[in-house]
Amino acid sequence: MVVTYTIASGKGGTGKTTLSVNLGTMLAQYGKETYIMDADMGMANMGIILGLENVPVTLHEVLAGKAPVSEAIYEGPCGVKVVPSGISLQGFQNADPEHLRDVMKEIVNQCDILIIDAPAGISRDGVIPLAIADEVILVVNPELSSMVDALKTKILTELIGGHVKGAILNRATLEKTDVSVHKIEEVLGVKVIGLIPEDPNVRRATAYKTPIVVKYPDSPASVEIKRIAADIAGVEFKNPQLLSKSKEKFLDRLARSLIRREK
Ligand SMILES: Nc1ncnc2c1ncn2[C@@H]1O[C@H](COP(=O)(O)OP(=O)(O)OP(=O)(O)O)[C@@H](O)[C@H]1O
Ligand SMILES: [Mg+2]
Repeated sequence: MVVTYTIASGKGGTGKTTLSVNLGTMLAQYGKETYIMDADMGMANMGIILGLENVPVTLHEVLAGKAPVSEAIYEGPCGVKVVPSGISLQGFQNADPEHLRDVMKEIVNQCDILIIDAPAGISRDGVIPLAIADEVILVVNPELSSMVDALKTKILTELIGGHVKGAILNRATLEKTDVSVHKIEEVLGVKVIGLIPEDPNVRRATAYKTPIVVKYPDSPASVEIKRIAADIAGVEFKNPQLLSKSKEKFLDRLARSLIRREK
């Protein structure tokens, strides 16, 4: 059974593309035939962070009816298949997001899991990915504005017949002012299925155009992304690179602090 996930947020810059790429990479590593698709057609980043920014055919051309889907599929890290969007404004103008559902139907014939990286906000091209996926995962940062925007996205998703699987809290820190897991679950009415720490290696890995789970596999953010991916894939989570005691303690403290803190 194919499962399609849309990674969405509401507020921009919460970590959707980072998560789509890294979850996809790990799911592929866990043996699942996985596709990641950049549905953020206006501000496409997936190709850039994977070094695929100059490829000849992208989702833009497919959605403009100029190329078949098969020509816009590229090999990514650990065998994940990547369908990037183009970076040209002209390409964006010509792409018709209404065809996204047809593209998805073609891709799901070939894979176990499809991850769709959604744009921020609630524009037309942002709404379609919320409606066509089996499950929507909301990425929130530990601040009120991010939570409020995620709530709007959740309400919109349900209004158009979509389903929210849960939220991932990204860029979590030990700051007392961070919104707690309890608060997020209470406000959004969904479970927090992942707690990814703020980790400078995320940006470093991007500079190398390599997912953090590959470049820095035992970095704190990588460890948590691997755990979330294992949950999704239904495999046992084993971290081959044993965490150093200090990293383990940090992740433990972070989880305890964010779970127990009541606002
Ligand atoms: N856990 C993290 N720790 C540190 N930096 C992070 C983390 N997650 C993401 N970032 C950084 O945050 C920035 C935004 O991430 P990303 O592009 O994945 O967000 P996005 O939600 O896709 O943004 P947009 O809404 O613009 O598409 C990037 O610079 C990324 O490197
Ligand atoms: Mg993005």
